[in-house]
Amino acid sequence: MIICHIKKDLRPILDDLRSKNKSLGFVPTMGALHKGHLSLIKQGLHENSKVVVSVFVNPTQFDNASDLEKYPRNLDSDLQLLETLSDDIIVYAPSAEDIYDGAIISENFDFDGLENQMEGKFRKGHFDGVGTVVKRLFEIVKPDVAYFGEKDFQQLRIIQKLVEKYDIPVKIKGCEIFRADDGLAMSSRNERLTQSGRDAAPFIYQTLKAAKKRFGMESAQKVTAWVEKEFKNHDALVLEYFTIADEATLETVTKKSSLKSYRAFIAVFVGDIRLIDNIALN
Ligand code: PAF
Repeated sequence: MIICHIKKDLRPILDDLRSKNKSLGFVPTMGALHKGHLSLIKQGLHENSKVVVSVFVNPTQFDNASDLEKYPRNLDSDLQLLETLSDDIIVYAPSAEDIYDGAIISENFDFDGLENQMEGKFRKGHFDGVGTVVKRLFEIVKPDVAYFGEKDFQQLRIIQKLVEKYDIPVKIKGCEIFRADDGLAMSSRNERLTQSGRDAAPFIYQTLKAAKKRFGMESAQKVTAWVEKEFKNHDALVLEYFTIADEATLETVTKKSSLKSYRAFIAVFVGDIRLIDNIALN
C-alpha cells in the first residue's frame, strides 16, 4: 500500500499508472473508516487496477465548529485497516493546505436546486463545501470511477450534478447503504453514540421500513405525519426532518406519480449526534 500526504508525491504515481492504462477507482472519505467505506473500496478494487482512498476531514463542509472538532479522526487505525485489505490501495491523506492551496474557503455552486433541499436547509453551505473538496480531489486524482455511498443520497445526486455541469471525465457509482445487523446505517458518527443511543438508533431504519410499507397505501403527507408522531413518542431520538422526495429533483412529493421514483429521507438527533438515513420507496 502506498501512502501520500502531499499531491506532489501522489501525482507521479498516478501518472505512471495512467501511462500503463491502469484503471483508477477513487473512494473519497473523511476517515474513521467503517464497513460501509470498506464495501466501497472492495467494489473499487474489484472493478479497477488500483483504488485511491482519500482521508481528509474537510473543514468547509461543516456548518458547526463543534461538529468539526468532534468528528472522529483515527488515521493510524484507518491505515492499518486499509493495509489488511489490499496492496492495490493508494492512500491520499493530505492537510487542508495541500488541498486548498492557501485559502480554505468554498466555491459557490448552483446544483439546480438539489442543494436547497433537506440537508441543504439544515446545514448551510454544506454542499458548497462538499462540491469544492470533491471537485478539487477529482482534479488531483483524476479517477476513472468514483464510488459514493447512497446513505448520503443527496450528496450522491449533487456529485452527479457537479460532474455533469463541469464536464468532469469520471464515472460516478452510487453504492447501496451498508447496514449493521440491526439495520443502523454505517456512519463514522456511530462511533460517538453512547450505549443507550446505539440501542435506540435502529428505530430510525425500522421507521423508514414501516414508512415504505405505508407509502404503498397512503399519501406522502399521511406517511410523513405518521413518522413525525412516532418520533414525538420516542424518548431518546429527536427528529429533525422526514421527507418523501422525488429522487430526480429531491423536491418533496405533493402528489404521487407512478412514473417517478421516490425516496424517504430522515435526519435524527441521538443526543448531540446527528444521523441521516434514507430508503427507496418504489
Ligand atoms: O461523504 C463524505 O465522507 C464526504 O462528504 C466526502 C465526499 C469525502 C467529501 O469530504
